[in-house]
Amino acid sequence: MSVSALSFFRLQGGIFGFLQLASLLCLLLLLFKAAQFYLRRQWLLKAIQQFPSPPSHWLFGHKRSKDQELQLLLKWVEKFPSACPRWVWGSRIFFMVYDPDYMKMILGRSDPKAKTTYRFLSPWIGYGLLLLNGETWFQHRRMLTPAFHYDILKPYLGLMADSVRVMLNKWEKLTNQDSFEISQDISLMTLDSIMKCAFTYQDSVQLDRNSQSYIKAISDLSYLIPSRVRNAFHQNDIIYRLTSAGRWTNHACQIAHKHTDQVIRQRKAQLKDEGELEKIKKKRHLDFLDILLFAKMENGSSLSDEDLRAEVDTFMFEGHDTTASGICWIFYALATHPEHQKKCREEVQSLLGDGASITWDHLDQMPYTTMCIKEALRIYPPVPVMGRKLSKPITFPDGRSLPKGILVSLSIYGLHHNPKVWPNPEEFDPFRFAPGSTRHSHSFLPFSGGSRNCIGKQFAMNEMKVAVALTLLRFELLPDSTKVPFPVQRIVLKSKNGFHLHLRKLH
Ligand code: HEM
Repeated sequence: MSVSALSFFRLQGGIFGFLQLASLLCLLLLLFKAAQFYLRRQWLLKAIQQFPSPPSHWLFGHKRSKDQELQLLLKWVEKFPSACPRWVWGSRIFFMVYDPDYMKMILGRSDPKAKTTYRFLSPWIGYGLLLLNGETWFQHRRMLTPAFHYDILKPYLGLMADSVRVMLNKWEKLTNQDSFEISQDISLMTLDSIMKCAFTYQDSVQLDRNSQSYIKAISDLSYLIPSRVRNAFHQNDIIYRLTSAGRWTNHACQIAHKHTDQVIRQRKAQLKDEGELEKIKKKRHLDFLDILLFAKMENGSSLSDEDLRAEVDTFMFEGHDTTASGICWIFYALATHPEHQKKCREEVQSLLGDGASITWDHLDQMPYTTMCIKEALRIYPPVPVMGRKLSKPITFPDGRSLPKGILVSLSIYGLHHNPKVWPNPEEFDPFRFAPGSTRHSHSFLPFSGGSRNCIGKQFAMNEMKVAVALTLLRFELLPDSTKVPFPVQRIVLKSKNGFHLHLRKLH
């Protein structure tokens, strides 16, 4: 046998040997994964045995219908009291909670945010207040709380009213036509408002094309991120980056970051001006972005650029997309309930006249409008769900318990539509919030509760009141019965088919 034939056989033998070894390793890995899957599933089955749920597939979990999640949830809320485990994969569950006592117990503890759901937000909003946990969260929360002090919020009302008027002026040119989609304009208006208030931005973003691309990027991310949470094959960062959804997410994040970077750069440049610095020194409380730029942490070091960017991205998003969702749903609720709309308008007219100015004191003098806003936030909570991972076992007041490590989905939407908590939950009845009415402390949680409640709650309520009051003075809102909004659970509550309303100009 020649030398070359011998080395050919040796090479062939080597390849076979290698393939054999590789197959063995793959088999072992597969067996290991199967054992892991089996053990995890057995552990979960034991952990949730006290909580019945609809039958599910052993591998794929409960059936998922992308846009029918909320409708499915409502069926479960009726059927399974307080809480119900939802299998998203044979060895993964989200434990859904929609009972006020359960909510109270969990929100009263300090369980961290569930990484499984929140980590996908991090390439976009970084580790700012929403995603942080533990001591760093506590330090940031303490640092940023003064940005929402009454003295700071008071002068924001004028800025909010200006932003609303820009939108209403635009709408005046469109009225008495067919219905039109309002959510894009409302998002631009709330973005304008947060930019002027929290970020000391002086131009109007409502007329600027770049801001429209930011809004579009946020809307894309609001869709892409929840889809990724649901998709078992998109959990790995490297694999996800190679998919078209991953590339799209990356592109949308870049657009969002370009927007926030520009805001930081611009403010830093302004602060180089002596006059601007003098103005700041005279202020008792700093605006949000200035707090961040002047921040010194406990150990005396300033906030890193990465931390600063994360907070700006977090507040830019949380500060406008949530209120935009809230305002869209409030407008829709009022459009479909003309009798309540009329009463709100009468209240606002007698308080504000032509609406030339709206002050802090006015906000407490519109009880009926406030009741309607709260009832809309109940039926359409802008943040429909929150996630936690149990850091220690828990026993609920009804005696059922869960071990450490379970992922809990606190469903605000489920809670607000729970017929045991709210009789006839789908009915729009503002009198549920009439002064003197009583209810469980944790039955109405649009802004969450406990130490991790919404830091922007007061800001948001003010903005929604200003937007509703000024809009009702200028327009009658009418629904378009051919295009009824369909609620879908994205990061905030959206309508799958947008918000189409007819606006009839008054006078
Ligand atoms: C209608 C409007 C709003 C609603 C319904 C809302 C609701 C919520 C909810 C439910 C949470 C808890 C989230 C969780 O635990 O995962 C939250 C947290 C938060 N919200 Fe809001 N929000 C609104 C407006 C705002 C505004 C205007 C801002 C900023 C200006 C803001 C900033 C934040 C931040 C930074 C957090 C995280 C707080 C922390 O963990 O310490 N929100 N919000």
